[in-house]
Amino acid sequence: MTTAVTIPRHGGTGGRTAVAARARQVVKAYGVGETRVVALDHVDVDIERGRFTAIMGPSGSGKSTLMHCLAGLDTVTSGEIHLADTEITKLKDKKLTQLRRDRIGFIFQAFNLLPTLNAIENITLPMDIAGRRPDADWLRQVVETVGLAERLKHRPTQLSGGQQQRVAVARALAARPEIIFGDEPTGNLDSRAGAEVLSFLRKSVDELGQTIVMVTHDPVAASYADRVLYLADGSIVDEMRNPTADQVLDRMKDFDARGRTS
Ligand SMILES: Nc1ncnc2c1ncn2[C@@H]1O[C@H](COP(=O)(O)OP(=O)(O)O)[C@@H](O)[C@H]1O
Ligand SMILES: [Mg+2]
Repeated sequence: MTTAVTIPRHGGTGGRTAVAARARQVVKAYGVGETRVVALDHVDVDIERGRFTAIMGPSGSGKSTLMHCLAGLDTVTSGEIHLADTEITKLKDKKLTQLRRDRIGFIFQAFNLLPTLNAIENITLPMDIAGRRPDADWLRQVVETVGLAERLKHRPTQLSGGQQQRVAVARALAARPEIIFGDEPTGNLDSRAGAEVLSFLRKSVDELGQTIVMVTHDPVAASYADRVLYLADGSIVDEMRNPTADQVLDRMKDFDARGRTS
């Protein structure tokens, strides 16, 4: 596997790692004057297609803001965000809503399942709303990969936390989005259920070619990723390829130590 960092400046990706999304000089500031907070400070990043990327950093470093801006859930103050060949920072509300619906999947910390629908109904709900017919073969593959085949008729209250989150992941995958974003998707799960969901996310990248971006503060969760980006004070300050949990933990301790002495 190539480990080269690619930052194509002129569009094309000829011979290099394909880019699913990219940020260029992205600034996000909240408030004005004395209360102004710069959550993202000229961020440049390429999210690689068919890979699992984790975003780490201390609380308040801008992880959620970066994810929201990349996913078109929030506007930027300046700079550009591209999803494949579409500059989403140029889109008006209606087009942006459409793009989020058709091309992006989300997994939240709270599973956000509808309690009155069973698992399979929850999984196909977004497509039902959009008037799209799910591809039956794909759906079967997704359900099998998540290991939910036996529980499709169960309602959320009849499922464990880990199973509910796997339903939420299957729901995100079912529509075959170009990219799935998760903000602390294992934040509400115990370590066993978390591992269940993380293995499934890993599998969806390896076996289904899914692109995933996950915000986490957990070194174990980050170790499932192909690449970890480290944010501090709104800037990407480091990255790690093929991380182990121990390496991620060491790197975090390093940052903490530096933070205390500077
Ligand atoms: N809606 C908002 N209004 C004002 N400040 C915000 C808002 N959202 C985030 N911030 C600030 O932006 C910075 C980055 O926040 P966030 O992206 O949520 O960090 P993280 O997810 O890494 O904890 C923090 O200082 C936070 O207080
Ligand atoms: Mg956050």
